[in-house]
Amino acid sequence: MRILKIVFATMLLGLSLACTPEHLQSTFDPKGPIARDQGYLFEILFWAMAAVFVVVQTGLVYTIIRYRRKSENELPKQVHGHDKLEIAWTIAPIFVLAAVAIPTVSMIFEHDDIPTNKPKIEVIAEGYQWWWGFEYTDENINVITANELHIPTDTVINVSLKSENVIHSFWIPKLAGKMDLVPNNNNSMWFIADEPGEYYAQCAEYCGTSHANMKFKVYVHDQAGFDEWVENEQKSANASLIECTSADANCSGLAAKGAYIFANKKFSGVIRGQQVDNQMCAACHTVAGMKIRGNAGPVLTHIASRTTIASGIYDNTEENLTSWITDPKNMKPGVYMPTLNFEEGDVEALVAYLQTLR
Ligand code: CUA
Repeated sequence: MRILKIVFATMLLGLSLACTPEHLQSTFDPKGPIARDQGYLFEILFWAMAAVFVVVQTGLVYTIIRYRRKSENELPKQVHGHDKLEIAWTIAPIFVLAAVAIPTVSMIFEHDDIPTNKPKIEVIAEGYQWWWGFEYTDENINVITANELHIPTDTVINVSLKSENVIHSFWIPKLAGKMDLVPNNNNSMWFIADEPGEYYAQCAEYCGTSHANMKFKVYVHDQAGFDEWVENEQKSANASLIECTSADANCSGLAAKGAYIFANKKFSGVIRGQQVDNQMCAACHTVAGMKIRGNAGPVLTHIASRTTIASGIYDNTEENLTSWITDPKNMKPGVYMPTLNFEEGDVEALVAYLQTLR
């Protein structure tokens, strides 16, 4: 009995938390037309199901009381079948399902058409284990970034969804979703954001050890703010340190040392229990302007202007960057970034370098 009470109390607590519209990932606080439509469908479904629940439970309680065994030595009336009732509860669900199907199906077709009365931006969202790559393919934007999606308000964001590993799901609870990223079968979806703000998003399909740590952030700007962001992203980061990535450059300072290490120094290390050799930062991470362009990990061109690291799970601080580079698997279980055999001062220099990449 005690266990039942605990289970019941936990369920009540969970239920009360689930209904908080202020929650960062609440679908009850839509900030765009797609999320609003999805919320509207949810309401139709909710009330249809609530009505079914009340009708069925009323019938059940009535039957239990009305036809119960009233005394020890009396057998309740034995009944079998009732034509009118059988017909009624076969027909009633047809109406309930039709009431739910009409708005659902018509909304599916409605959302298939991209609105033509608003400007449009094309974004490819690619799911990795466990982070997000974002590529803006419009010629006037042409930006590649990771884990933080920046968009303008009142603009159609047309997202192509790709995955080369397992199935992920793209979900920005207050704006739109969920839509799966399926290997070898690209999906697409669109959404619009009403107002500037910061939105929390999350992979919504189990995709391995760190699925729950595969978050991302969406920054919605006014047009001027978005243009400013694009302009900064289009630059190659900290050009003054690019030359420091070659061996014969005459550079000094901690950040310059970090740039050199990033592009040249080879380490051995351990990835998911496997020993690996000749690992270089730049072999996995691109910093625009450098000759070598790795693409196994997130683009780092403007890493210092991001607010988070490790796919939205830690604030982008010196302390977190240091812990992350030193031993990523402690920060994110299952991560594919190796724990490397750095020498004294290497990590400090790398962090100093990364912090210049604004
Ligand atoms: Cu990606 Cu769950």
